[in-house]
Parts: sequence; structure tokens; C-alpha cells
Amino acid sequence: MLAIAILAAGKGTRMHSNIPKVLQKIAGITLLERVLESCKELKPDRTLVIVGHQAQQIKESISYLQDIEFVSQDPQNGTGHAVQQLIPTLKNFDGDLLILNGDVPLLRSKTILELLSNHCTRKASVSILTARLSVPIGYGRVFSDSLGNVDKIIEDRDCSEEEKKNNLTNSGVYCFKWSELKIVLKNLSSNNAQNEIYLTDAIQKLPSAIHTEVTDSDEVNGVNDKQQLSDCENILQERLRRYWMKKGVKFINPTSSTISEKTLFGKDVTIEPETHLRGENIIGDNCHLGPNSFIENTELKANVSILYSVVRDSLIYENVQVGPFSHLRPGTLLQNNCKIGNFVEVKNSSLDTNTKVNHLSYIGDCDIGKAVNIGAGTITANYDGLKKHQTIIGKNSKTGANSVLVAPLKVGEGVTIGAGSTITKDIPNNSLAIERAKQVMKKNWLPKV
Ligand code: UD1
Ligand code: CA
Repeated sequence: MLAIAILAAGKGTRMHSNIPKVLQKIAGITLLERVLESCKELKPDRTLVIVGHQAQQIKESISYLQDIEFVSQDPQNGTGHAVQQLIPTLKNFDGDLLILNGDVPLLRSKTILELLSNHCTRKASVSILTARLSVPIGYGRVFSDSLGNVDKIIEDRDCSEEEKKNNLTNSGVYCFKWSELKIVLKNLSSNNAQNEIYLTDAIQKLPSAIHTEVTDSDEVNGVNDKQQLSDCENILQERLRRYWMKKGVKFINPTSSTISEKTLFGKDVTIEPETHLRGENIIGDNCHLGPNSFIENTELKANVSILYSVVRDSLIYENVQVGPFSHLRPGTLLQNNCKIGNFVEVKNSSLDTNTKVNHLSYIGDCDIGKAVNIGAGTITANYDGLKKHQTIIGKNSKTGANSVLVAPLKVGEGVTIGAGSTITKDIPNNSLAIERAKQVMKKNWLPKV
């Protein structure tokens, strides 16, 4: 029997944030979700999350997951105190309890599996995941013999200068025999620098303790402050880029771009410098992204090019060109071969195949047919001060430069709109619509001196 407990009740004071520490994100996924993800392969019988500080928010953040049991810790009096709260819930449990700090986001499942397998083979009361760090500051130091038997863990703040030199650190991931841990839990004191009940004090009270050292010490980075959050983000970005490069994505200047965990790429995608993908994206084969672009929650089919542009919550079909300097806002749908050019903003609009908006336009709440040419500077006036209204434009129509289309408006198919027109009335199919004052001509006119 295996139960997992994740400690997520702490205040995270060092983060100086209104967001609970375990809900801080790296590459778009919270620390807590990452810890849970790293345990997925273990197929535990029970998964417990200990919550306290901002408990409601934390519960809601993972409410989509099934079979999570929440245990409350109030007040939050240290990691040992957090684990004491499990005693009633695990009353009839007899098996191994894997405990993980909720702020260790880079762990790989394989590492935890190794810890569990060592734990089973060596039959210890507790197996601790450790790392040798060149800068061990802030971490509990693990004192062990050369065979890996652990004597005790001393917290950084409670170490003497001599003890601080030990660079074998506690990762905050342990596998305990619950039957033995629950007995010693009751005897933990808070006689330490923080006046808290430390889980690490349980180690020396148990009959036997061993440790397993990780090979990649990055995996056990704990996140206590924004600096460590950013360090983890960098490591994860590097991991993601390497993963996608192996799958055929080409980065021109890898370290200048960032990608979210939930972005999927096809083959032969090129990512130019300073290009950032956030949220959930699907990027099709042969897409060319950037330089200097921001793409969020968007699906691009094959051969799409995005140059110096911002694209959010959009769906873009094949062979579409966007940019330079376009802004596609939520609800943009571009069918095959559309072109969105310089200084064009599109919002909540659908453009059918071969339609072009090449220069200086605002297209809001529109339904535009096939092969429409939107002239330079065309603006859809979709907002009357109270409500948004729709503009419908039929296939093969053209709007002249500097047209204003005042919604609600229906422009038929094959329509031509003269340059500079402000259109307020629907236009039937195959018509020309011009709305502008006649040009006044005064011949041989010179200004009076
Ligand atoms: C802890 C370990 C330290 C280890 C380090 C690894 C202890 C006493 N120390 O220190 O040996 O090297 O992690 O990263 O365990 N939490 C609760 N309730 C509380 C306090 C904390 O649930 O009352 C949770 C936090 O939300 C966090 C985790 O426990 O997810 C660790 O707490 P934190 O305060 O970050 O411990 P460290 O000082 O990093
Ligand atoms: Ca920590």
C-alpha cells in the first residue's frame, strides 16, 4: 500500500506574494500540479494534500483532479505538525507514506521510483531523497555514514558553522513506513530556531534511516522565493527546449524564447528569437514563429507565419501570414491563406479563405466571407457606447481605404465600397457604395495676402 502526502499548507512568507506559494507557476503550471504530476506514475492508493494557508484557493486549483483527499492544518506550525494532521485520516493505513514538499517542482517520476525501490530493498523506516549541492544554503543538512545510513537532519538555521559545511541536503521528499512514523510524530518538539515542529526531527527518532542521492541536483530545487522560482523556470525552459529540439523544432536563439509546458509542436517549426508561447497551444508543421512574437492559447495549422505579432485565443488555418505588427485578439478565426498585415487588430471575428486585411485596420465582431479585400485603414465601428454589434461582409467584396463600417451592418457579396466612406446602411450584393461629400474645386484660387 502506498499513500502520498503533499505538504502545501505553509504561508510561503519568503515569496512576498498574495498568491499561495504552491500556486506560483513555472512554464504555465503550478508548483503543486507539478509535484502531483511527478507522482502520477506511482499509482498510489491514496493521495493526500495538506492545506492551511489560503486553503480554499489551493483546493479549487486542483478541483479537476479526482481522488485527492484534503487534510487541513490550522495553524501552520511546521512540516512535522503538518504530517501530524494525517494521524486521524491514516488511522487504519498500513503501508508506505511518500511525503513531498509542495515546493519541489522539478522532480522526475523516475527519481521518485528509484527512491521507492531503494526503500523496499533496504527495508528502512525512512528513505530520504538527498542531493549534494555546491551552495547548500537554506536546506536541511543530512548526516550519514558512507553506506548511506542517516543519523539525523539539521536545519540550516540550527546548524553550527561546522555543520553548515556539510553539503548533503534534504530535498523534502521522503518515504516513511507509516506504522513507525506515526509513533514518533507524537514526540516531536518545537525546540529550534523557528519554534516549529519539524518533520526532519523524526529521522533520528526512527529505528533506521537511509538516503538516496539524486544524480541531477536541479531536480530537488526547492522554491521559497522569487529568485528560486525564476531559477526553476530557467531550468524547466531549458528542459522543454531540448525536448522539442529533439522532436524537430528549430530555435534560432534558444535562450531568448520561452515556451509553456502545454504547447505542442509539429515538425520543422522554426522559432525565431524573442518568441514566447503561453498557455495551451498547438503549432502545426512548418510554422514560422517570430522574431518577437507572443502567442497564447492558440492553434496554428501547417505553414503559418507569425512575425512581430501578438496572437491570443485564436484558431488559424493553413498558409496564413500574420504580421509584422498584427494583434489577433480572442475569438479570431482565420481560414486558409488569409493575410493579416501591418498594424491590424482583429477581435472575435471569422475570416474565410483568401481574405486579406493588409494594413492599418480594426476588425471587431465580423463575419467575413471568402476572398474579401479589406482596404487600408478600414475600421469596423462595432461599439455604440453600450453594446457591441456585428458586421457581416459577403465573399469577393472590397472595402476602400479609410472606410468606416458602422455595425450592425450587412455588406453583400461582390460589393465595392468607395474610399473614405462611412457606411451605415446594409449594401446589397454586387453594388458599389460610396458615402462622401463631393470634392469642391475652385479654379485659379490663391490664398489672400
Ligand atoms: C524544508 C525542510 C528542509 C529541506 C527543504 C527542502 C523541514 C523542517 N525542513 O525546509 O530540511 O532541505 O524543505 O526544500 O521540513 N508546510 C506546511 N505546513 C507548515 C509549514 C510548511 O504544509 O506548517 C509546507 C510548505 O507549504 C512547503 C513545505 O511544507 O510546501 C516545505 O516548507 P518550507 O517552509 O518551504 O520548508 P523549508 O524551509 O524549505
Ligand atoms: Ca521550501
